[in-house]
Amino acid sequence: MEDGIIVKNCTKVYHGVSDRVVAVANVSFSVPRGEIYCLMGPSGSGKTTLLNIISGYLEPDTGKVFLLREDIFSMPKEERLKLRLSRLGYVFQDFKLVSFLSAWENIALPAISMGLSEEEINERLRFFEDRLKIKKLYDKLPNELSYGERQRIAFVREVIKSPEVILADEPTSNLDIDLKIEVLKILKELGVKNKSTVLIASHDPIVLDYCNKAIYIINGTLMGIYDTKKLKREFKLSDDTGYIEQVSKLRKELIEGKITEEEFIKRYLELKQEYLNKIGEES
Ligand SMILES: Nc1ncnc2c1ncn2[C@@H]1O[C@H](COP(=O)(O)OP(=O)(O)O)[C@@H](O)[C@H]1O
Ligand SMILES: [Mg+2]
Repeated sequence: MEDGIIVKNCTKVYHGVSDRVVAVANVSFSVPRGEIYCLMGPSGSGKTTLLNIISGYLEPDTGKVFLLREDIFSMPKEERLKLRLSRLGYVFQDFKLVSFLSAWENIALPAISMGLSEEEINERLRFFEDRLKIKKLYDKLPNELSYGERQRIAFVREVIKSPEVILADEPTSNLDIDLKIEVLKILKELGVKNKSTVLIASHDPIVLDYCNKAIYIINGTLMGIYDTKKLKREFKLSDDTGYIEQVSKLRKELIEGKITEEEFIKRYLELKQEYLNKIGEES
């Protein structure tokens, strides 16, 4: 039974003053409990929007999200909030640290609201502090920290809760290679030890080495779900065939209103079939 994350036919369109952006276009996938997947795609492809939807932060225009078997947009708002606070960890791309609280207080606030004592928090911190080099940061305010330091504090704030589902948005983007590896190792360990379901949004290829599968999106469209071991080979091939570029162009035409939704789907499926024929894989 798939009871980690299930995304079903989610679409989200942003309406600007003069334009409309299809940030997520009818996307469906699932992450089984205890698995670690990544959501890959270039900047602007809809990764953050998808994580905001999965976390219950942002309601999609269409579609459903099941977190730990709960249909989150059908439940009352306060139930959804409770689920998010107690069972979900969401490492935001922009950290969302509270500016007037120290690093330690930022980490402790959600943990205390879950019922952990100061002692338990410090005990749990011991597991992270050397590995992530955060011990000397506890008394500082967020604006006294570098981006990489803020990122690690925001990361620990979420994982210290031992959440059942962890969403991490570009969690390695400001870190040196040794700290990147530490963050990814910790996420992987949480998946194995706690049976946490982990979804990491990133365009950093190193993330692939720590994930079971990679969900690839471009311009809001799901391109495929790949076994990470096979991925490097497949994407080298798709680069060679120009597949990604062609689909990108097609999506642009759709967004600009040059082709209809129907035409888009027809041509997209043709392109996909062509690509699959070229690489000799079953769809
Ligand atoms: N609040 C918003 N209002 C309007 N457009 C947005 C908003 N958030 C994101 N977008 C647009 O939606 C698309 C997807 O953005 P995002 O989900 O942030 O992608 P990613 O995380 O992959 O970089 C982009 O074209 C972006 O400009
Ligand atoms: Mg993003």
